Amino acid sequence: MAWLVMIASLILVTWIVSLFTILILSFFPFTNHRAAPLRKRNNVLLVIAHPDDESMFFTPTINFLTSRRHNVQVLCLSIDGKGNIRKKELFQACVALKVPMQQVKIVNHPDLQDGFGKVWNHSLLANIIEEQITSHCINMIITFDNYGVSGHCNHRDVHYGVRQLLYDTLQKDIDVWELVSTNILRKYSGPIDIWLTMIWAMLHSSGTIQYFVNEHPRRSYRAMAQHASQWVWFRKLFVTLSSYTYVNTLRKIQH
Ligand SMILES: *[C@@H]1O[C@H](CO)[C@@H](O)[C@H](O)[C@H]1NC(C)=O
Repeated sequence: MAWLVMIASLILVTWIVSLFTILILSFFPFTNHRAAPLRKRNNVLLVIAHPDDESMFFTPTINFLTSRRHNVQVLCLSIDGKGNIRKKELFQACVALKVPMQQVKIVNHPDLQDGFGKVWNHSLLANIIEEQITSHCINMIITFDNYGVSGHCNHRDVHYGVRQLLYDTLQKDIDVWELVSTNILRKYSGPIDIWLTMIWAMLHSSGTIQYFVNEHPRRSYRAMAQHASQWVWFRKLFVTLSSYTYVNTLRKIQH
């Protein structure tokens, strides 16, 4: 019993120390970048599967990019039955994250419906993404990796759609980064994951791994709250416990 209390206290203390570290880092944002490609201003396309993916998984990255005045476009590839409500919520969440509404595109295609077991056509995805790249002079893409954080098949299909695009069109001048999926312990370690992320990044050659500590955690929380139809207690819990609220690790896709 005493052991249990000790371990629980240790976790709690580490949690609090980590959270404070993030808050301190957010006052010194210049410490938070290692990537050469991010020194110039980019036209970035964030490709997601569902409205709320941006708030649940990508906010450390979005906050980093918008606060450095990169031009961020969001491409959301599906919308569910409550179409108009979800659309409005996504627009509001993006505005909370400092991405103007005009830079958010939501695709509503009969072959791209939200849900498990719905296989999305990778060539179709590639075509839609390519259209967006051309019309906004995109030079950087950010998306899910082949596990898609939660293992959701739509997330994974989005990854393969981007891969298909790279395969089809040999876009050599576009940098493509994927959000690294971590194991379940790290995924729910909240702010504590910043330490593991830093160590993990150190073990990899720089240039292929990039991590962003969230500079505006409150902004992330506000963005998630815009998804009112989804904002139930277990999501609040997820956002608080999820390491993706505090830090993102991106891996460069070699192509
Ligand atoms: C996938 O999409 C492409 C492009 O839109 C189309 O040509 C192809 O027939 C589709 N494949 C299937 C299996 O539906």
